[in-house]
Amino acid sequence: MSDKHHRQIYQPNREYAKDARIKNMCEYQDLTRWAEEDYEGFWDSYAKEKIDWIEPYHTVLDESNTPFVRWFEGGKLNVAEQCVDRHLDVRKNKAAIIFEGDRGDKQMVTYLELYYNVNKMANLLKNEFGVKKGDRVVIYMPMLLESAYAMLACARIGAIHSIVFGGFSAEALRDRIEDAEAKVVITADGAYRKNKPYMLKPVVDKALEGKTPVEKVCVVERNGEDITWVPGRDYSYNELIKQQSPVCAAEPMDAEDPLFLLYTSGSTGQPKGVQHNQAGYILWAQMTMEWVFDVKENDTYWCTADIGWITGHTYIVYGPLAMGATTIMFEGVPTYPDAGRPWKMVEEYKINQFYTAPTAIRVLHKMGENEPAKYDLSSLKVLGTVGEPIDPPAWKWYYEEIGNSKCAIVDTYWQTETGGHMISPLPGATPIKPGCATLPLPGIMGEVLNPETGEKVEAYEGGYMCVTRPWPSMIRGVWGDPERFQKSYFGDVVKDGKPVYFTGDGAIYDDDGYITITGRTDDVINVSGHRMGTAEVEAAILKHDDVAEVAVVGKPHELKGEGIFAYVVLKTALDDAIYSDNIDMMKAINGVIKKEIGNIAVCDQMLFVPGLPKTRSGKIMRRILRAIAKGELITQDTSTLEDPSIVTTIEAMV
Ligand code: PRX
Repeated sequence: MSDKHHRQIYQPNREYAKDARIKNMCEYQDLTRWAEEDYEGFWDSYAKEKIDWIEPYHTVLDESNTPFVRWFEGGKLNVAEQCVDRHLDVRKNKAAIIFEGDRGDKQMVTYLELYYNVNKMANLLKNEFGVKKGDRVVIYMPMLLESAYAMLACARIGAIHSIVFGGFSAEALRDRIEDAEAKVVITADGAYRKNKPYMLKPVVDKALEGKTPVEKVCVVERNGEDITWVPGRDYSYNELIKQQSPVCAAEPMDAEDPLFLLYTSGSTGQPKGVQHNQAGYILWAQMTMEWVFDVKENDTYWCTADIGWITGHTYIVYGPLAMGATTIMFEGVPTYPDAGRPWKMVEEYKINQFYTAPTAIRVLHKMGENEPAKYDLSSLKVLGTVGEPIDPPAWKWYYEEIGNSKCAIVDTYWQTETGGHMISPLPGATPIKPGCATLPLPGIMGEVLNPETGEKVEAYEGGYMCVTRPWPSMIRGVWGDPERFQKSYFGDVVKDGKPVYFTGDGAIYDDDGYITITGRTDDVINVSGHRMGTAEVEAAILKHDDVAEVAVVGKPHELKGEGIFAYVVLKTALDDAIYSDNIDMMKAINGVIKKEIGNIAVCDQMLFVPGLPKTRSGKIMRRILRAIAKGELITQDTSTLEDPSIVTTIEAMV
């Protein structure tokens, strides 16, 4: 079956749909209508059903100080209790987390064991390090069970965690530690990648050099490599944990107390500390786990993300545990020892829901086309993708070879700021189209709006992806910068006189009202599903002494989705510099990027140009640079540029 524009439509698997939580489009529409007609009643009903409140709330939604909204005011809860304690009656011996190490080592913790481990870590933080409610704890960890314990331990005592992805450099870690004024860092000596140890603790040591708000560092000893211990500051988790009591009272938290910060890139300036609060976040994490992945009591679910990103937060730890599921945590890389590793794991653990990024699918396809056939993948019921648009060839391979043409693909569109899924198919209900996130989930007022008029756009017109009403798991603030919060998300689109949440993404409706995300409209690029601000990369490049000016743009990349392309103006001509050629220079600049941000931000291509196309007021015309990088014809008027000839000069150099 295909739509009016000949896009193939795949109907949900009828057999599967019989037992799905949402079984057909009528059920989807009923829920959507309910939310539209009685928004607060809809959320009230789910909040009462899904959360075990310590004290009930008195107000569902307070919009009096919009966009600083408050959900479930008056209510008290504890997120660690939601994720662990409340399952002990019925799921005490059920596997909560299954860990598989890079080298194939395995560990499983039941809900009861998770309870003890979280409590012990909570006691450690409280009693040994003096962590109190509201304190910030930075978690700079590889994928380990202890990473989940650390998150839940913070939640248990009311500390605010801020996880920094293990691939970030010491400088990037330092910035995040300082911005959050973290008191404690939880890290590991290192971990394993492709059967080799790699190190994290030395990065922490470097990040803490000089003045730092950090008083204590807790080190999980994973790979046993030699590290430096700073007396009075660094403590071994493995030693201290032995002395901790397995019982720790959970702190009753206000519904709107902060739960965690997660730094993410914006189009300008430094990364911002996206703040998520308690009740709304955990409610939507659980609801979307149930609706979108439709995980059942005996299922085993695997999300391949890293806990350093929002996907790891919501869909490895909080969402699965809130619903009492079995979640897999994987330390390694999907292509080691070969590109059949994930499929081997699917067979071995009989995984039912598998969630990954399009980049991983493209790499697994390219490096291991014949691998899936070697394994029994028949346990799979739902396949998910996240983080970037998925191209139809990758989608088709995933659908046919991994899902055997019987599993729904849920192309989940969301962001660090949204806390959970916003637009996604429901596996038992939504007819799907490759590369299309389809429809907003019930309760999410997602609309594609015309940025000028604030009106909903017609099919194929294209507009800005907005959310017109606050939802429970939405970002509550940018840490320490309320103005930036307001300006970043509520400045661009006004509907019926009210500023609405703008995601930063462009989108388009088709005739069926399905939404396809067309990518960022701002200066944010998406490299392998990782979000990068061009401004951040530019700021790093400018730290190289020989660089005078730089402009960074995204360029389509076969595997990564987008690659980073930098136009660099040097202070002195290359010949005069100490570098023998462009490649040397590029290496040197990428070295600076690695130091300032990390490997994830290194440039794929660098062009050394004599100047940049700028308007007379000095604004760099990135649109032109993006077009040149893509090899497109320049159609726009360049006569208003300060120096129009620079465009042809650069074009000739590519
Ligand atoms: O551009 C959109 C893209 O990823 C951005 C959010 O990045 P981040 O906050 O790092 O969160 C990634 C994981 C949720 C969005 O603004 N994006 C995310 N999911 C999709 C997507 N683009 C297209 N399709 C998706 N399914």
